[in-house]
Amino acid sequence: MEKYNYGVIGLGVMGRNLLYNIADNGFSIAGFDLDEQKIKDLQDGATSEMKVKGTQTLQDFVAALETPRKIILMVPAGKPVDAVLGNITPLLSDGDIVIDAGNSYFKDTERRIADLASKNLHFMGIGVSGGEQGARRGPSIMPGGDLEAFKLIQPMLEAISAKVNGEACTAYMGKSSAGNYVKMVHNGIEYAIMQLISEAYDLLRKGANLNNDQLYQVFKEWNNGEMNSFLIEITRDIFQQKDDLTDGYLVDQILDKAGAKGTGKWTSEQAMEIGTSIPTIDIAVTSRILSAYKEERVKASQLYSKNEIASPENTEQFIKEVGEALYLATLISYAQGLALLVKASEEYQFEIPLKDVVKIWRGGCIIRSVLLEKFYLAYTKDINLSNILLDKDISEIVKNKISSLRKTAAFAASNGISSLGIQTALGYFDAYTTESLPVNLIQAQRDYFGAHTYQRTDREGVFHASWQTANN
Ligand code: 6PG
Repeated sequence: MEKYNYGVIGLGVMGRNLLYNIADNGFSIAGFDLDEQKIKDLQDGATSEMKVKGTQTLQDFVAALETPRKIILMVPAGKPVDAVLGNITPLLSDGDIVIDAGNSYFKDTERRIADLASKNLHFMGIGVSGGEQGARRGPSIMPGGDLEAFKLIQPMLEAISAKVNGEACTAYMGKSSAGNYVKMVHNGIEYAIMQLISEAYDLLRKGANLNNDQLYQVFKEWNNGEMNSFLIEITRDIFQQKDDLTDGYLVDQILDKAGAKGTGKWTSEQAMEIGTSIPTIDIAVTSRILSAYKEERVKASQLYSKNEIASPENTEQFIKEVGEALYLATLISYAQGLALLVKASEEYQFEIPLKDVVKIWRGGCIIRSVLLEKFYLAYTKDINLSNILLDKDISEIVKNKISSLRKTAAFAASNGISSLGIQTALGYFDAYTTESLPVNLIQAQRDYFGAHTYQRTDREGVFHASWQTANN
């Protein structure tokens, strides 16, 4: 019987697209899904050049694969992954590799690595970004974990991933669950950038009164220059999409309540847990939560009616400043996410190669942008950069745009236009670049009411004062 190089379990749109991508690159591949229709769709959609086989049972699926078997799970994160593992591991042999390509929580991956290792099986968590089209035509792939298993699948990953300047958008992201961790932070940054773009949109429509056609033009111009990115590009296109059910544009008919599947929340939780400051990502998560309180927001907006928004003196200048503010706040969001990866790498001994992270994010993934090229250069100069804002060339970009970020934040604040992301990006920047923060006072207060002690600026050691209560 002919044996297949790879196997995919879970033939939803993402699973099927990834499978076809692997088959397009010359690898033979078998698929399995509990839903028979999906198996049929898989066979029907395959071209005659592809070596693709749909299998009806897990036994047939496992028997169809060459050893060591290389099985990719494309099932929803959480319980479905454990359910599949429970069913499949008894059918596998020593040395087989199971690759989870979903947005799994990194601690689940650690548990599964240990569990499968006890059965002499390899388990790897790999992040895949790029949505349905990315899976089909070339995603950014973030593999981590067992190096021996990685080496076996590396040629396939390099073949199917997106390419930038001829280089594959995939690289080894580090030990254990590093692949999932890097993907989680990718998504946290994705949340922040989407939040910032939505705020720029709000400022342009409410501040400069731009309609969707004009917004399309602005985003088109932005995308043609230094702000070129996947998220700016799709936003441009969104402003052109007409609604099927009314005469207007679709974007105006979409209810302003944002959904979330959890990776952004995990990123924030992680930053709190290991002690890294990522406020723009945090605010992007919480801002989606706040958006869900639509009915309360409507009531509150009636109770606290706002003054009319003052028109900017020079609309063209205003648009330029909003663009620069968005660019810089986006850069600051990447800085926060990358700083979290630096800390996590130490904390969990992942050994995440930051230079490769930004390299493989340049193409295929949702946060791809030309800005990442500049980060790549920064890490090429200094592999141990703890924060991208400390790079000299990056600092020049920041200095060029900071006044636009301040003006835009001030305009939003004085006109009551919600701009949580822009304000926190600026706030983070100001705090991070301040030599002397006022937290000496916080330390004094902590010591005052709780004898929590403090350190001094002029001598080593830990101190406690007997604070004098004023008699009044
Ligand atoms: C990607 C996306 C992908 C998914 C997000 C959406 O990189 O391809 O990030 O993973 O679209 O999970 O997340 P929310 O539903 O939480 O916005």
